[in-house]
Amino acid sequence: MLKTGKIYGINGPVVYLKGNTGFRMAEMVYVGRQKLVGEVIALDKDRTTVQVYEETTGLRPGEEVVASGSAVSVTLAPGILNNIFDGIERPLERIAESAGAFITRGVSVDSLDRQKKWKAHITVEKGQYLHGGDIIAEVPETRAIIHKCMVPPDVEGTVVETVPDGTYTIDESLVVLKLSDGTERKLTMTQHWPIRTARPCHHRFPVSVPLVTGQRIIDTMFPIAKGGTAAIPGGFGTGKTMTQHQIAKWADADIIIYIGCGERGNEMTQVLEEFSELMDPRSGQPLMDRTTLIANTSNMPVAAREASIYTGLTLAEYYRDMGYDVAIMADSTSRWAEALRELSGRLEEMPAEEGFPAYLASRLSAFYERAGMMHNLNGTNGSVTIIGAVSPQGGDFSEPVTQNTKRFVRCFWGLDKSLAYARHFPAIHWLTSYSEYLGDLSPWYRDNVSPQFVEYRNRLMALLNQESSLLEIVKLIGSDVLPDDQKLVLEIARVIRLGFLQQNAFHQEDTCVSMEKQFLMMDIILYLYKLARTLVSMGHPMSVLKEEKIFDKIIAIKYDVPNDQLEMFAQYRRDIDAFYQRVLEKNA
Ligand SMILES: Nc1ncnc2c1ncn2[C@@H]1O[C@H](COP(=O)(O)OP(=O)(O)OP(=O)(O)O)[C@@H](O)[C@H]1O
Ligand SMILES: [Mg+2]
Repeated sequence: MLKTGKIYGINGPVVYLKGNTGFRMAEMVYVGRQKLVGEVIALDKDRTTVQVYEETTGLRPGEEVVASGSAVSVTLAPGILNNIFDGIERPLERIAESAGAFITRGVSVDSLDRQKKWKAHITVEKGQYLHGGDIIAEVPETRAIIHKCMVPPDVEGTVVETVPDGTYTIDESLVVLKLSDGTERKLTMTQHWPIRTARPCHHRFPVSVPLVTGQRIIDTMFPIAKGGTAAIPGGFGTGKTMTQHQIAKWADADIIIYIGCGERGNEMTQVLEEFSELMDPRSGQPLMDRTTLIANTSNMPVAAREASIYTGLTLAEYYRDMGYDVAIMADSTSRWAEALRELSGRLEEMPAEEGFPAYLASRLSAFYERAGMMHNLNGTNGSVTIIGAVSPQGGDFSEPVTQNTKRFVRCFWGLDKSLAYARHFPAIHWLTSYSEYLGDLSPWYRDNVSPQFVEYRNRLMALLNQESSLLEIVKLIGSDVLPDDQKLVLEIARVIRLGFLQQNAFHQEDTCVSMEKQFLMMDIILYLYKLARTLVSMGHPMSVLKEEKIFDKIIAIKYDVPNDQLEMFAQYRRDIDAFYQRVLEKNA
């Protein structure tokens, strides 16, 4: 018999039930006549508090609340990819079909298609002893991804029955296990997992491989590791969404989970349209084949927004368990924090900084904590990388969400308003951003790109830092009085900013750049600097060097050298040599 309770108070998404209902914490419940989905968030001797994931308009005291007997969970099975869900894993397209509108209330639809038959190849045999996490079947989920059906983490036993390879629905039994207590357990393609609990793994290991995004300021300057965490804070219109889209499109992750959290609805529609047209450059297949979108836009209920983050994490961990590298984009974690604030206010909890609940920091920490490079229960390795956008009011990074996020991420890509105004994109500021992964990833760069990679990167950074202090002086006394070697630093820093850091997401060649080209670009800039510095030290004035237009020619490399014609760099080297000779001869 399912436990029930009666509503006596309603405050927005929060509903109170009288008396001891016998419900459990975090249990999923169905609220009222419309059976709205909710979750138990507080239990007292004489009161049970439920947060409702749907609009509560029209709900009345006296209506019944029915317990479901299990925690708020997601359904894990083939069909997750190339799909779009709301914050509690209800497929938006199916909701639209069954209810007509974009989203209505209380429509009980299945998370995944239960009629569809999937082609399954069974990978285990009778008599085999299986542990939690072991792979029992492989199902081509999309053209790009093989779904690995696994034994649920808490189950183990001997295979007593298997089905032949063939097509099955996600509910049909594939393998029967005999458990240690003598009972039998049917395994299907489906698992359920509570969203607020991290899926177990064997152990975590240190990160050592970068998530290559094709974005120079990220890959070269402030890299993120597979299994790492990063925040993209930035004021209104500075490029948070755009940066996340670029990473989602180009990063070398196997799976992308994109959580649109509290952002404008039309932005999410745009993601949908854009992503469904895009082809994955690596597989030549549609990008959606390896992507799942979770949309909880600003017009959808706040409680579901709060949950959407955990739903996304759980889906990501599930694919990680199969041995995939998964990247999560959350846009924006500030809207999620605002949902926490709203719910906390409704619960009349004591507010801390700027009205956010005192547990804001621990929630943020728990979120980023679920990232990592893992050795899975089944012996495979997989990773979850988390990239969260933060939208501080007025771009002021001293507010609580940005500050607390900074404590838990190791990579900080600070977007800058003045760069965005100047249309320097990506507007990631090289002086405020950092990556603590550089040391962990150095061996990878050394072995996979070039032994000089990190040294070159550090030299570019040093030039940019020098530029920043020189600009302070220029502000006071003008640039004319600077000695030529310092003028050269300013000129080279300009080449680095415009030719290397600035990257045009709308340009076919520039939108994504290989590590090799990124290195060759650094190499050619530093080569130009070396020869120019020799000329300056011999007394040739900067005014003469600048006449040559070589600096602008190097800036244009990002457009002029296609990604597949890197041999062209040799010609640029000869051009720099020729420039050097000409200046020498001019002043001979
Ligand atoms: N890498 C880029 N290349 C070219 N243009 C860019 C790039 N990044 C951002 N932009 C420009 O900046 C605009 C705003 O970017 P975006 O929507 O990503 O900002 P946002 O920080 O998400 O804004 P909001 O605070 O409104 O969510 C884009 O429409 C685009 O014109
Ligand atoms: Mg945005």
